[in-house]
Amino acid sequence: MRRWAAWCGAALAALVVAVPAAQAAREPEVFLGAAMSSDMRPDQRRDAVRNFSAITTENAFKWGEMSPRRGVTDFSVTDRMVAWATRNGLRIRAHNLFWHRLQLPDWVTGVVRRSAAPRRTLRRLMVSRARKVAGRYRGRIAIWDVVNEPLALTGPGWDAGDVFHDTLGESYIDLAFRSAHAADPRARLFLNELVWNPALGDPKAGALLALVERLKRRHVPIDGVGIQVHGMIGLAPPWFPESTATLTRYLRALGRLGVDVEVTELDVALPLLGPVADPLAAQAKAYAKVARACARVRRCTGLTVWGLRDPDSWLDTDPTTRGRAPNRPLLLDGKGRRKSAYRAVVEALGERRR
Ligand code: G3I
Repeated sequence: MRRWAAWCGAALAALVVAVPAAQAAREPEVFLGAAMSSDMRPDQRRDAVRNFSAITTENAFKWGEMSPRRGVTDFSVTDRMVAWATRNGLRIRAHNLFWHRLQLPDWVTGVVRRSAAPRRTLRRLMVSRARKVAGRYRGRIAIWDVVNEPLALTGPGWDAGDVFHDTLGESYIDLAFRSAHAADPRARLFLNELVWNPALGDPKAGALLALVERLKRRHVPIDGVGIQVHGMIGLAPPWFPESTATLTRYLRALGRLGVDVEVTELDVALPLLGPVADPLAAQAKAYAKVARACARVRRCTGLTVWGLRDPDSWLDTDPTTRGRAPNRPLLLDGKGRRKSAYRAVVEALGERRR
């Protein structure tokens, strides 16, 4: 009997020792993802599967892309992307259900502005879109960017001409998240924003923290906040973040509000790093700064770069940035080869486990 008791004691002791080790090993990984354009070229599909564990739909799920005309919802691209990503075991970030500033179809604004009951009209349009689109992929989308960039581009307020905020005030965000949750209770629901360097006093970063706090206080079903970090890192203000410490502090502050955080649209335009001896090394360093901040914040669950190969980047076509093309801002070069920035990101994210 004594031998049996001794064996149980030893086994229990081993189990107690094992649990913390197992727990440490179970430290949540930070997934590495990339934005995928709607054409999903064969080389892009290969790049995504070989180098990432998640994709964000760069444009496919945007309202203007799916419903250019009232009464039309074109699922052809999103069906193809979701089916392909699911078949290949890639986590899907669907971006986005609602964005007032770009790719919102003109007919939405027109219908609401002409309505005798604009509040009811907009509510119905939003609930219908969430039900139709998020409902169609119920159980297959890991994360929805439910509302993209609700705040004004700079400063603490809201954009003039924002049909959502003009019509419903801030409560449109509550409605967006509640509708998305009703349509797909299993998807994790994110608010995605672009903030400037809080260390330089831009009030937008503080305004986002205050917004998230109000949403949580109203029991809005928000699971996370995406911080885009379109990287003009190390540049003169107001680009954000200048340092790992600044970003770490900010991501932690968001996590303390009871939400997960992700870096959702990281890119680092080479020309913006200034005249440096080794631009690719400087780029790798800038990427590592951001990845390290995410690795250090327990509630930072993912890092997504905004495109697959350098030539795929929006920066080379957007009117505000194409003047500097080729920006070469991503982790894969023009032939899909991993750049030093890719290795730097993987190494920095690995700090989570060490
Ligand atoms: O789909 C039309 C096509 O029919 C037309 O022939 C073509 C030429 O005009 O335009 C196509 O639409 C373009 C769309 O991307 C899809 O390719 C728009 O002009 C173009 O402005 C749009 O750019 C996207 C941009 O958001 C504007 O919405 C970029 O690809 C996309 O990378 C960028 O991503 C945003 C995130 O959603 C939110 N955070 C900021 C980020 C960068 O702006």
